[in-house]
Amino acid sequence: MTRIALVTGGSRGIGAAISKELKSKGYSVAATYAGNDEKAKAFTEETGIKTYKWNVGDYAASKEGIAQVEADLGPIDTVVANAGITRDAPFHRMTPEQWQEVIDTNLTGVFNTVHPIWPGMRERKFGRVIVISSINGQKGQFGQVNYAATKAGDLGIVKSLAQEGARAGITANAICPGYIATEMVMAIDESIRDKIIAGIPAGRLGEPEEIARCVAFLAGEDSGFINGSTISANGAQFFV
Ligand code: CAA
Repeated sequence: MTRIALVTGGSRGIGAAISKELKSKGYSVAATYAGNDEKAKAFTEETGIKTYKWNVGDYAASKEGIAQVEADLGPIDTVVANAGITRDAPFHRMTPEQWQEVIDTNLTGVFNTVHPIWPGMRERKFGRVIVISSINGQKGQFGQVNYAATKAGDLGIVKSLAQEGARAGITANAICPGYIATEMVMAIDESIRDKIIAGIPAGRLGEPEEIARCVAFLAGEDSGFINGSTISANGAQFFV
């Protein structure tokens, strides 16, 4: 049976690696993106994975987009809420706009992504919800009051969903990546990034594929008793 997976923010960074990993495991994959048409087109050409454009922070757009994916591919049984942004600034300089943008995408975006898919999972008695949180949701981070709040909130979402979905055959789990070699991490000032890497016992950034393999594991049909948990993949930078 072909499983249908939706990966938000699935055409770039960690999301692209997740989309490709699931495709290689036989899933029919839809990847969403927010803005960059050219990169999404190139991704589809390279991988054969269909992309869909909507803003995960917009409930109506998410619902409509998900309906389109289901019309094209079939009912979604695996959803990876991966789309996320940073608007880093020390708290005393963080603007209400920087706060709100991050909340809308990283936290409300998870609600908007999972909520329209959830009833179908309940009816079919199977579902896999995987939320990409962050090490910084676990430990906090200088300059990321907004981001850390959303990523900690994501953990609350999965622990609650896990309890609600368990009897319906649905699992909800989180992955907390550490610092991974993506555009998001490369955007940090080089001198700050070097200090961060020096604080990672593994002595390197993680690779997107290392997170993608965690997703594939949690998505597996034989992972049904793993529910409400968090995989920390951070090169020993932080222990919960
Ligand atoms: N702890 C304590 N003090 C710190 C600090 C830290 N981690 N980082 C900076 N400071 C101090 C600096 O030493 C400096 O002090 P002085 O003025 O006394 O020298 C002061 O705070 C100001 O620091 P900056 O010069 O860096 O301030 P800035 O305004 O230029 O930049 C910032 C602020 C944008 C938050 C910048 O510090 C930064 O980019 N930090 C990295 C934040 C980070 O790790 N983001 C993760 C992005 S990747 C991601 O989010 C993916 C994921 O899930 C892991």
